[in-house]
Amino acid sequence: MALFNWSDRYSVDVGVFDGHHKRLVELINELHDAMRSGHARDMLGSTLKGLIDYTRMHFAEEERLMSAHGYAGLAAHRIEHEKLVTKVSELHAKYVAGDNTLTIETMNFLKDWLINHILVTDKQYGVFFKSRGVV
Ligand SMILES: [Fe+2]
Repeated sequence: MALFNWSDRYSVDVGVFDGHHKRLVELINELHDAMRSGHARDMLGSTLKGLIDYTRMHFAEEERLMSAHGYAGLAAHRIEHEKLVTKVSELHAKYVAGDNTLTIETMNFLKDWLINHILVTDKQYGVFFKSRGVV
């Protein structure tokens, strides 16, 4: 069973970022599945690495568009992004160091972080970009 189901209420009204967010939901679900099924260590590592790489790409794209449009909330938004990148990088470092435990608390943290970030912080740029005609 998926940990996290996409809902249209998460839409930020910017098509490319909705697409990214849907992929992040998929990656979090894949990580959850890898954890629950007790998959081999390499599977967990590659899924975690995939989540980190995709998250970095997505955050960079959001920040690039916010910067291009002179969005006033960019600095605060970037700080939220950096906190998550730090957190997932710590998870990856633990994994590389041989800690194979990925707990349900960690999965719930990732899920809740993404939901809250989309519903509060990303929705704010959604309103802004809409006013600029970005779809
Ligand atoms: Fe964001």
